[in-house]
Amino acid sequence: MEKTIASIDVGTTKVCTLVGEVNELGVLRIVGVGVSPSRGLRKGVVVNANEAADAIIASVERAERISGYQVTRAYTGIAGMHIASQNSRGVVAIPHGDQGITDQDVSRALDASQAISIPEHHDVIHVVPRGFSIDGQEGVSDPRSMFGARLEVQVHLVTGSTLSIQNLVRCINSLNIEVDELILAPLASGEAVLTSTERAMGVALADVGGGTTDIAIFIEGSVWHTAILPVGGHHLTNDIAICLRTPFDEAEEVKKKYGHADPTEVPEDETLDIAAFGEEVHQRVSRRQLAEVLNARVEEIATMILQEIKRSGYDGLLPAGVVLCGGTAELPGIRNVVRNVIGLPVRVGRPQDLQGLVDTLTSPAYATSVGLLMWGQNHKPVVVRSHPHRTSSGKGVLRWFRNLLPG
Ligand SMILES: Nc1ncnc2c1ncn2[C@@H]1O[C@H](COP(=O)(O)OP(=O)(O)OP(=O)(O)O)[C@@H](O)[C@H]1O
Ligand SMILES: [Mg+2]
Repeated sequence: MEKTIASIDVGTTKVCTLVGEVNELGVLRIVGVGVSPSRGLRKGVVVNANEAADAIIASVERAERISGYQVTRAYTGIAGMHIASQNSRGVVAIPHGDQGITDQDVSRALDASQAISIPEHHDVIHVVPRGFSIDGQEGVSDPRSMFGARLEVQVHLVTGSTLSIQNLVRCINSLNIEVDELILAPLASGEAVLTSTERAMGVALADVGGGTTDIAIFIEGSVWHTAILPVGGHHLTNDIAICLRTPFDEAEEVKKKYGHADPTEVPEDETLDIAAFGEEVHQRVSRRQLAEVLNARVEEIATMILQEIKRSGYDGLLPAGVVLCGGTAELPGIRNVVRNVIGLPVRVGRPQDLQGLVDTLTSPAYATSVGLLMWGQNHKPVVVRSHPHRTSSGKGVLRWFRNLLPG
């Protein structure tokens, strides 16, 4: 066995810790899974450090018990409304044009790409190269050893609020676990559920979780746009609780058991017994009515995904359509409803071709968790500036660059 890696997906609904072994051939085998209900988090950010730490350690301990390994470091997912992203470019002159472009030149270009105004009190989480040009010639995927006088790199830059990042990192550090790397949740999900053909053709990934919907748009094999939207499955449950006047926990159960996003697919006469607020007796509710409540919110979420795709400016460049994941992608009928709103092909993505303890992990809810581990398997360090847990040495940048080359 070559190495052992761990990932922690700190979601709004659940915290999931995975432990994996990567063998000499680079094959990943999942040997530990720990899932615990999330606490102390709202819409992807830590709002109560003690509660969040309790939830995280519960999931870590479970994964440790099952795997027999101690988790001392982990690839950790990050999301939340504080995340901002933009495309940028870095240009550098090549002084020694007759020697070919070197790793150091690429490193300087990547540094230059971050010299734009990033939001105040934000830190860089990812600098993902999208492509290079040499002396104005575009479409270069790897400039090293090529000749030219002017190197330009196009990058996708992801930043997050310094405080939110620190709160998450400190919370994990307080459990004596080091953060290997912070990875934007939808980029991790993409690792687990997208095919390389979809990424090359152009695809939008939408991870509809409990508190947020995380979006990443991939074109020509690399990421071009990312966004976190403040909607998710909790809104569906809340709508049921309000419209059907039932407690939140009952609404959550009813949603998972009987929910459907498309009322036309539900028989008109089917009814359910559900608890009513403040009453001992149950109330009878039509299942179609339940589907109508869910349909309205799913259409709204789909409209928000469509608006984000349009806002990105890449709406005409996504022949592979939309891949849905996150727990809410389990809702029956969601695929058709989203397809009708967005007008592109839609499929539900699940982590596939896994080895080891994979029973529950093939649900779309585990896309981020599994993707984080896959990110670690491929060992892709990211550039993170001014964080206590990582410094961006030039060496780190280049190692990361080799792994993230588009295509
Ligand atoms: N069968 C199902 N039908 C409908 N919704 C479901 C089903 N299973 C899970 N969900 C919903 O999925 C949501 C949780 O998804 P997920 O586990 O991806 O969220 P998370 O990663 O904890 O949160 P986030 O990514 O928003 O921080 C919950 O709202 C839950 O109700
Ligand atoms: Mg999630």
